[in-house]
Amino acid sequence: MAAQPETQAPLKNPPPDSPRRQKVILDVDTGVDDALAILYALLSDELEVLGITTCCGNVDVDTATRNTLALVELTGKDVPVYRGSANALVRPFAGPVPWIHGDNGLGNAAVPEPSRRPEPEDAAVFICEQVLRYPGEVVLVPVARMTNLARAYLFDPGIAKSVQRIVMMGGAAFCPGNVTPVAEANIWGDPEAARVLFRSGTPITMVGLDVTMRTGLTGDRLNRMDPSRPYTELVQQAVRFYMRAYEEHHAARGAWCPLHDPLAVAVAEDPGLCRTRRCHVDVETSGDLTLGMTVVDARGKPTAPPNADVCVDVDAERFLARFCSRLGMV
Ligand code: BDR
Ligand code: CA
Repeated sequence: MAAQPETQAPLKNPPPDSPRRQKVILDVDTGVDDALAILYALLSDELEVLGITTCCGNVDVDTATRNTLALVELTGKDVPVYRGSANALVRPFAGPVPWIHGDNGLGNAAVPEPSRRPEPEDAAVFICEQVLRYPGEVVLVPVARMTNLARAYLFDPGIAKSVQRIVMMGGAAFCPGNVTPVAEANIWGDPEAARVLFRSGTPITMVGLDVTMRTGLTGDRLNRMDPSRPYTELVQQAVRFYMRAYEEHHAARGAWCPLHDPLAVAVAEDPGLCRTRRCHVDVETSGDLTLGMTVVDARGKPTAPPNADVCVDVDAERFLARFCSRLGMV
């Protein structure tokens, strides 16, 4: 074998099967902040994204799938996309939220038609297969309704012990909700699914509104995004729309938006970004006023053992610096 020149530059991206990279499956309802989370994950040197699964939520599942395929293609990465649930586990899809994410989920920006199709397999089947293929190695990162994951767990309950951890964007532990006074959108949209996960025994990190609302991207950072990147125009148009939606409710912050979904990916990559509190968490599935509430037992003597690491504080500056440098907002 020919000797390698000593000056050879180190590999920027380790090969896909490198043990140094954390295997993840990202579950999305793309969605503006989902789009940012996808980019953050695909541009990571520390994560190996086995695949991306899609669900209804911010938009219907077909739009979420198309948006996801388009974004993956813009990064040039070879990551498969699996279409998932069109409805919640036992409820119909509550409908999209065009006033936050635009009619097409990406702030009405022009989205290039993807050339690739979703894989033929269902999202839940893909999740089961990958977890069984790499027992103890896969972190599941749902940043949407938990429907696909719950379907995988119900399909094969044995996977609960083989999933390394679930790092979810969802819930509101010690802060208000965003759909109702007590419920966050990803949990409210499919409370039964979230309950399956919290009762599964898999270790869970809950990246809820307690921390995601403390992260924020500002308009000036967005404007500085590297114009040479193939996704910059799409991101800028989509995020400007998203910022306008947030401005209606948080006028004092000016052009700003929280980075809900990217923070969950960032915590999967680097758990040290958030301070957590071990608690028992369950989900309200029937309350008139409290449907979708993440009920966190913060009492001195809880009656059930802890089942989740609830994020209660975030190093927002460190996260934002990493996010901006990775996406070229320098
Ligand atoms: C969550 O709901 C969705 O609208 C966002 O994409 C995020 O996953 C925030 O509550
Ligand atoms: Ca989302």
